[in-house]
Amino acid sequence: MKPFLYRAAALAALGWALAAPPAWACSFDQAPQARAESCNRLLARSINFGNMLEHAREGLAGPMLRDEFITLSAQAGFTAIRLPIRWDARAFLKPPYTISTEFFERVDGVIRLAQAQGLAVILDMHHYAGMMLEPQTERERFLALWRQVAEHYRDAPATVMFELLNEPHRELTRARWNEALAAVLPVVRESNPHRTLIIGGGDWNAADALADLRLPRDDRNIIATFHYYEPMAVTHQGAEWVSGAGDWVGTTWRGTAADRAKLRADFDRVQAWARAERRPIFLGEFGVYSRADEATRIAWTTAVRREAEARGFSWAYWELASSFGVLEPLTLTWRRPLLEALLPPAPVSPAPPGTYPGYRDETVTQR
Ligand code: BGC
Repeated sequence: MKPFLYRAAALAALGWALAAPPAWACSFDQAPQARAESCNRLLARSINFGNMLEHAREGLAGPMLRDEFITLSAQAGFTAIRLPIRWDARAFLKPPYTISTEFFERVDGVIRLAQAQGLAVILDMHHYAGMMLEPQTERERFLALWRQVAEHYRDAPATVMFELLNEPHRELTRARWNEALAAVLPVVRESNPHRTLIIGGGDWNAADALADLRLPRDDRNIIATFHYYEPMAVTHQGAEWVSGAGDWVGTTWRGTAADRAKLRADFDRVQAWARAERRPIFLGEFGVYSRADEATRIAWTTAVRREAEARGFSWAYWELASSFGVLEPLTLTWRRPLLEALLPPAPVSPAPPGTYPGYRDETVTQR
């Protein structure tokens, strides 16, 4: 049996009628808005497999992606894997920009194993430096990469979702990102008319950039995403890739009333946008670098995770087994306090239907 059939078989065995998929099923049988919402519920508690497949070579700047990472993530209670992938580094520089067959096979294997473990998968186009520096020159290649990825996974189950581009920034301004998006969406939709897509705004997927994001109003099968690392002096203290971050080492976060008010206000703005636009929300990255003290990491992670869940946002922690990591990659042991900040030991019930106010059905009049 193909791995992706396991979930359907398990549901059938439990007596659920697959003809009328339940609200959380994430199935091609659902109407587009319902599918986006239910697929987003599968992303409820996700983990980023960061620094594995988003460099020029696996193992170059992080751990090799081990099969155990997938089984352990499923056993711990994560519901999905966000898989950052540097497709552009695995493809020819000249037309037709062919992506390496071996690399496709590597990604296929990861997806198969994840699906067999009941995990949804996000294929995220990550670290596409050329698009950030020269978006006009790179446009044709960006479209060609998505044409290939989309065609390759056209028969994958609905629980495999595509995230079109991680953190547009620099020359790929909010306006230029909207232009690139308008060009890439038809390319992906040509082979994947029913696949749930994940799309964020400019300025590194900033929360406030959602306001300028132009999504096609008649494509309801889209989950909107944002990343949250505020305050940067807390989450990126000592981060070698952020200038001036050395000066931030020692910054603490204990969740004072002011800290929490700022967090809530930031998330409230995202929620207001989501209600107005009728889009489910996925907080695709949040986390604290390992240079921060343990109490800060736990307090911030717990607070952000809770505020996301309180608003029905699904989330993905950044990241599994690297410098923000929740798992020690060599010994395969969880960093328990951090894991429990994400997945509290007491069972948490999944977000109930209707958590996303305003997304009720397809007939709501558009603004
Ligand atoms: C980047 C990572 C970085 C993380 C936090 C991600 O989007 O790809 O390299 O560690 O953000 O800054």
